[in-house]
Amino acid sequence: MSKGISREKLEEIKKKFDEKISSVKNSEDLENLRIAFLGRKSDFSLLLRGIKDLRLEQKKLIGDFANKIRKDIKGIIESKKNELEGGEVDNEWIDVTAPGEKQEIGHLHILSQTQKEIEEIFSTMGFEIADGPEIDNEWYNFDALNMPKDHPARDMQDTFWLKQEAKNEKGEKQKLVARTHTSNTQVRYMEKHKPPFRIIVPGRTFRYESTDANHEHTFSQFEALVVGDDISIANFKDIAEKFFTLFFEREITVRLRPSYFPFTEPSFEFDISCTVCDGKGCSSCKNSGWLEIGGSGMVNQRVFEAAGYERGKYQGFAWGFGIDRLAMMKYKINDIRLFAGGDLRFIKQF
Ligand code: FA5
Repeated sequence: MSKGISREKLEEIKKKFDEKISSVKNSEDLENLRIAFLGRKSDFSLLLRGIKDLRLEQKKLIGDFANKIRKDIKGIIESKKNELEGGEVDNEWIDVTAPGEKQEIGHLHILSQTQKEIEEIFSTMGFEIADGPEIDNEWYNFDALNMPKDHPARDMQDTFWLKQEAKNEKGEKQKLVARTHTSNTQVRYMEKHKPPFRIIVPGRTFRYESTDANHEHTFSQFEALVVGDDISIANFKDIAEKFFTLFFEREITVRLRPSYFPFTEPSFEFDISCTVCDGKGCSSCKNSGWLEIGGSGMVNQRVFEAAGYERGKYQGFAWGFGIDRLAMMKYKINDIRLFAGGDLRFIKQF
């Protein structure tokens, strides 16, 4: 722009500004336009420097006109700014009638639900819920349960051994295992509590075995241990029938078959009347009318001795039942591997 301020030159600037403002699309364009027309290095500012060279009466006239032009430009920029910001707000328009997005809410896994249900039923029957370690030393998992190192019964439970060893309370080195059953908590609990007591110990157990529809390497059991002066098999049968009747919400009868566990004497395999046919015989129970549930028996006095109790002073019963297997029966699940398979279509059903 040629030197010297005049009304025409100011009008020319305003005209150019009017042309440019129409192509402004966003706040950044607008700021650039403001700097180009009103900034320190703009033609407008350069022209203003020429005011000092004007004659006195011109100074006032041109000065007033320049102020008006500046005011107009500022005003237009301001309203364009409001328009743009208003437009940005408009873009956030919300359709309140549109259907909402469903928020996924997590829930307890069916095995946790089943475990909770078992705990609730036993709580109402006066049982305490006890806890034991998933990694334990071989004393509690085997030796204290009347299974010395060379005892063939150890082969009944395929075991995950840990490389690491640990010292027990007496400072002796002990091999560590991923517990093969919740029975590991029997002696641990009895060392700290005197009878009478009734507990269940729900929790995860591990076995080094190949998996199939009924066997997992990681599964859950719940142990029951009831000890007192005169606990008998009749008490055991009664409590078990009450529990299963509440759990399956139908009348359940219990059958005991002779079996062998080193930690119980006598020992039993424990069956319940089929939850599908009520004992009449169907494909679920292979027409026998019975379903196998777990192992049980009267606590072997050697186990009481390992816990520091006097031999013959107390009597008690114990059992170990699979929680996964109970959930399978209750919810008609035909493959145990579905529980940890990670298939959300399965998990979301419960
Ligand atoms: C025991 O584990 C004994 N500790 C039970 C016991 C406790 C007997 C107290 C006497 C007194 P067993 O190995 O049979 O026993 O297992 C008990 C139950 O755990 C089985 O009936 C079954 O329901 C479940 N179970 C065992 N192995 C598996 C497996 N690999 N996958 C899923 N469930 C299993």
